[in-house]
Amino acid sequence: MSALEYLDSPERGVVLLDLDYRINSANHRAAELFGVKLDQLIGSPLPSWIKTRPKSLDDVIEEVLYPHFGPNTVLHRYSGPVYGLQNNLVGRVEIYSDITARRRLETEILERNRELAELNKRLQETQEELLRSERLRTLGEMAAGIAHDINNALGIVLGNVQLAKRRIPEDPECLRCIESIEMAAKDAADTVRKLKEIGRPVDRSRYRPIDLGALTESVIAAMTPQWQEQDKQIDITADLQPGCTVEGDEAELREALTNVMLNAVQAINRQGAIKVAVHKNSSQVVLTVADSGIGMSEETKKRVFDPFFTTRGSAGTGLGMSMVAAIVMRHNGKVKVESEQGKGTIVALCFPLAE
Ligand SMILES: Nc1ncnc2c1ncn2[C@@H]1O[C@H](COP(=O)(O)OP(=O)(O)OP(=O)(O)O)[C@@H](O)[C@H]1O
Ligand SMILES: [Mg+2]
Repeated sequence: MSALEYLDSPERGVVLLDLDYRINSANHRAAELFGVKLDQLIGSPLPSWIKTRPKSLDDVIEEVLYPHFGPNTVLHRYSGPVYGLQNNLVGRVEIYSDITARRRLETEILERNRELAELNKRLQETQEELLRSERLRTLGEMAAGIAHDINNALGIVLGNVQLAKRRIPEDPECLRCIESIEMAAKDAADTVRKLKEIGRPVDRSRYRPIDLGALTESVIAAMTPQWQEQDKQIDITADLQPGCTVEGDEAELREALTNVMLNAVQAINRQGAIKVAVHKNSSQVVLTVADSGIGMSEETKKRVFDPFFTTRGSAGTGLGMSMVAAIVMRHNGKVKVESEQGKGTIVALCFPLAE
């Protein structure tokens, strides 16, 4: 049995080459795969579109080829040495298999896998959102229960602080103590206010059509003196598309944007840029705040919406972003955060576009 007979198969194209690298025999499938007649093949070298040649006669080549004939045809090529009885090289064999269908299947599987991964990611995001909203709801309910009592206590503390301040202004040591009490009580009042904001139920009677562009402009104007006071050089730009109207509670939306902006300002140490943009598409309005600040670590990015999570020590309550999430959720919207450490952060608030 000759080598060709031995290797012949209806699927594979088989070509035998002599030591001069000329084809001395081939099967019909090889001629078919090369797009020529069998007798044109015998005696000639391999067609020129098969570019890889063995470095030596006993070299083995395995590669995938994309021939010019046949739409999107993909061939697998094996090329290796053939030995005689005395272990002497007698020529080479080339085996070509049409792997077009297999390749198509592989691409399809890859595509399906990609779709599945995307679906999985979306599912995970939805689960995280659900968990977040559940956590915020529980926290809100708890906060509503204690806010009243704490506020009463803080009212008494702050009222007495005012009285005491008037009585002993001449003792500087004592005055400093009283001012510390006042500051701590005000911080606590601020925490309670944020907790109440998180737990506030949706009140649609307060909802009006709000022009997010105009609201953004006024929030920026109100906040600018603040960072100028802190001696920060912040280059702020606003790209506001007209007609970006959402149905919502103006005070809440202002509060949400103020918190996002505050975080952006706090992320910038001395000098940086904040880009605010409000855009709409056919169904939603997207407000983005991009800062060139310190950015977030992976851990921070994961926990940014966790109530009381802060990297700012006693300077932060860690309730800012929880409040933002709660407000956006009450407006049937979504918050997304993209951040890279050392590069900056983009916070996007997406709301349904008002009809
Ligand atoms: N723009 C930002 N750049 C970098 N880190 C941010 C940004 N926004 C939020 N973070 C990180 O997320 C944490 C939580 O933010 P969040 O606003 O909830 O709390 P906070 O700013 O620390 O405190 P608070 O808002 O109550 O003053 C921050 O401590 C900070 O680490
Ligand atoms: Mg904050």
